[in-house]
Amino acid sequence: MSDSTILLRGGRVLDPASGTDAVLDVLVRDGRVEAVGEQLAADDAEVVDCAGRWVTPGFVDLHTHLREPGFEDAEDVASGSAAGAAGGYTALCPMANTDPVCDAAAVAESVWRRGNEVGLADVFPVGAITKGLRGEQLAEFGELHDSAARVDFFSDDGKPVADSLVMRRALQYASAFDVVICNHSEDPDLTAGAQMNEGEASSVLGLPGWPHEAEEIMIARDLILAAGVGARLHVPHVSTAGAVELIRAAKARGVRVTAEVTPHHLSLQDHLIRSYDPVLKVNPPLRTEADVQALRTALADGTIDCVATDHAPHAPELKDQEWEHAPCGMLGLETAFAVVHTELVATGLMDPLTAIARFTTGPAGVRDVGAHGGALTPGADANLAVLDPAQRWTVDGRALRSKARNTPFHGAELVGRPVHTLLRGRFTLRDGKVQA
Ligand code: DOR
Repeated sequence: MSDSTILLRGGRVLDPASGTDAVLDVLVRDGRVEAVGEQLAADDAEVVDCAGRWVTPGFVDLHTHLREPGFEDAEDVASGSAAGAAGGYTALCPMANTDPVCDAAAVAESVWRRGNEVGLADVFPVGAITKGLRGEQLAEFGELHDSAARVDFFSDDGKPVADSLVMRRALQYASAFDVVICNHSEDPDLTAGAQMNEGEASSVLGLPGWPHEAEEIMIARDLILAAGVGARLHVPHVSTAGAVELIRAAKARGVRVTAEVTPHHLSLQDHLIRSYDPVLKVNPPLRTEADVQALRTALADGTIDCVATDHAPHAPELKDQEWEHAPCGMLGLETAFAVVHTELVATGLMDPLTAIARFTTGPAGVRDVGAHGGALTPGADANLAVLDPAQRWTVDGRALRSKARNTPFHGAELVGRPVHTLLRGRFTLRDGKVQA
C-alpha cells in the first residue's frame, strides 16, 4: 500500500465544473486525480469509505483575514490555514489590511511563502488598491502582479476607496493587467459613528444606524465606473436587498461584475443585537429579514457568485469589550459550509450541486486560484473535500483551530461538516482532525 494512493470509495461526487452529481469512486495517486468512475480498483490504494458523504473540489475562500504580518495575536498563516483545512478549504485569499499593508511585492511574497511552508492550504494574497490603504495613491499593481505571489485581485477591504477619481484610476490601471478590483462598499459620510444597521432594531436599541444606502451608493458608483472603463469589479460581502438589485441589473447589462456573500449575512439578523454581544458586530452590519431573504435568493440564482467567509479573527481582549468599542468582524472558515448547508441546503432553498458551486467554481471564476475549485478530471491536482451532510454538531468556539474565538455561531446546532480535506492528494484534514 502506498501513502500516495487513496481510493475515495462510494461518495456522492459533486463536481460543479463538469455537472457531475453521482455516486462514484475517486482514485488519487501521487497528488493527482487518476480516475473518477464506478467500482474502481487499485491494489496499492488506501481505501477511504465515503458512503453517505459528498466528495467535492476543495473550497476556495476569496475573503480571509489571516492577520499576518502584524496582528499574529489574533491569527497567523499557520492557524488560519488550519482553520481553512478544518472548513474544507484548499485555497485562501488573505486580505491586505495587515501591518505592513500588502501593497508591495515583498509583503505579498512573504505571506505567499509562509502559506507554502505551512502547507495546509494554498495562499493567494490580495493586494491593496492604495498605498497604506489610505485611499490616495495607487499601490504597485504591476510589481504585485509580477511577484512570485502573482497577485491578480486588489482590495482595501475594511476601508472603501471613497474618492471616485482614485477608484476610476484603479479600475483603469487594473484593466491594463486584466486584474480584479474589489472595493469595500461603504460611503463613509453615511456611516460616521454608526454601530449597527439603521432600522427598527437600531431605533429600539438606541444605537447609531448604518443605512443600507451607504453600501448601495458605493456599489452603484463602482458599477458605473467599472462599466465605463470595461474593468472587472468584485463586490465583497453584499448585505442588502438593494445591493442585490444593483448587481442583478448590472449583470443583465453585461457589466463585468462578480459578487460574494458571507455565511453570517445569509443567516443572522440585526434584531439579535439586543444581546449587545460584541461578537455580532461586523462590517457591513447584520441586516434585516428581507435582506437575508434577498441574499439567499441571489446566491441560489447566481446573481451572487460565491460564498466568501470574511473570516475576521480578533484577539479576545479587543473583541470582548463593550459594543461601542469592539472591533468589527467574525470568524467564518470553520463554520461556513455547515451554516450554508443548514440554512440553505437542508431547507431546500438550494440543491447540493449549486451550493458546492458557490464554494468552488464560483470563487475560482473570480480570480486565478490555479488548480482549485474543480474539475475532478484525470490529471487534475487532487484538491478535494469530503463532507458529511448528515453530521449534527454543536459549534464550540473554544474548540476551533483559529487562534481567535469570535464566532457568532458558538452553541449553534448545525448539520453538515467537512470530514476530510486533501491538498494535492495529502490529507490536511482527516477524520475531522487537522494534519498539522
Ligand atoms: O467586519 C469586518 N472586519 N469587515 C471588514 O471589512 C474588515 C474586517 C476586519 O479586518 O476585521
